[in-house]
Amino acid sequence: MMEVHVIRRENRHLYTDILEDYFRIRHQIYVVERKWTELDRPDKREIDQFDTDDTVYLLGLDGRAIVAGMRLVPTTSPTLLSELFPALALNGPVRRRDVYELSRIFVVPNRRGEHAGPRAEAVIQAAAMEFGLSIGLSAFTIVLESWWLPRLLDQGWLARPLGLPVNINSLSTVAVIVDVNDEAWTKICSRRSVPGSTLVWQGLSALERHPVRDPVAAV
Ligand code: COA
Repeated sequence: MMEVHVIRRENRHLYTDILEDYFRIRHQIYVVERKWTELDRPDKREIDQFDTDDTVYLLGLDGRAIVAGMRLVPTTSPTLLSELFPALALNGPVRRRDVYELSRIFVVPNRRGEHAGPRAEAVIQAAAMEFGLSIGLSAFTIVLESWWLPRLLDQGWLARPLGLPVNINSLSTVAVIVDVNDEAWTKICSRRSVPGSTLVWQGLSALERHPVRDPVAAV
């Protein structure tokens, strides 16, 4: 099974080549496949204002090859919800130290819809929950296309809408907040056959990996 690597400011230098591949895969998936053409850039890397030093990447790797990915942005920094889609949150965007926004969740085309073993899509999402628990988060926010909402609920995540769905580029889009807790992790693992922990914290110190006195202070 693929391992999911935690990549953040402190260990990014260990993943320079992989991050280069990562931004090119994002271009292929979001600009070419999904046709989010406003993200197109001359260098063919899909990278935006939310890819900063504060951003954490969870990358599912098979050896050095990227299978799946996800981006996590602290909600104390600018997020998709706060900067691009504030109308999706009726009470205003969430800005809390213990809440991160998930975005750019993908699986490379030839590893989608797998049936043998846990599918990469479930492994990367279980890994996000494991990461949230590890650093002491209490919730994730997600701006998502509405078709994804029943899938989140079905995998055992308590996803509550922050507002009404809105049509964006002809797609129904909604913002949700999802509780980070042990139950959400064990449910996705048992419902989606994820055997347990998948996170690799290469080059990160214990302080950055585990909640201590003030969990999110380590982030
Ligand atoms: N619109 C509507 N439904 C979609 C969809 C879309 N853009 N993308 C996937 N789905 C549905 C599929 O129809 C499929 O439904 P089914 O099981 O009833 O046939 C289901 O989601 C599973 O999708 P699939 O791609 O077969 O497998 P997966 O679960 O391994 O991967 C994604 C799901 C979304 C991770 C993968 O399709 C992907 O990487 N897509 C491109 C990136 C993306 O759009 N991410 C979401 C926005 S950040």
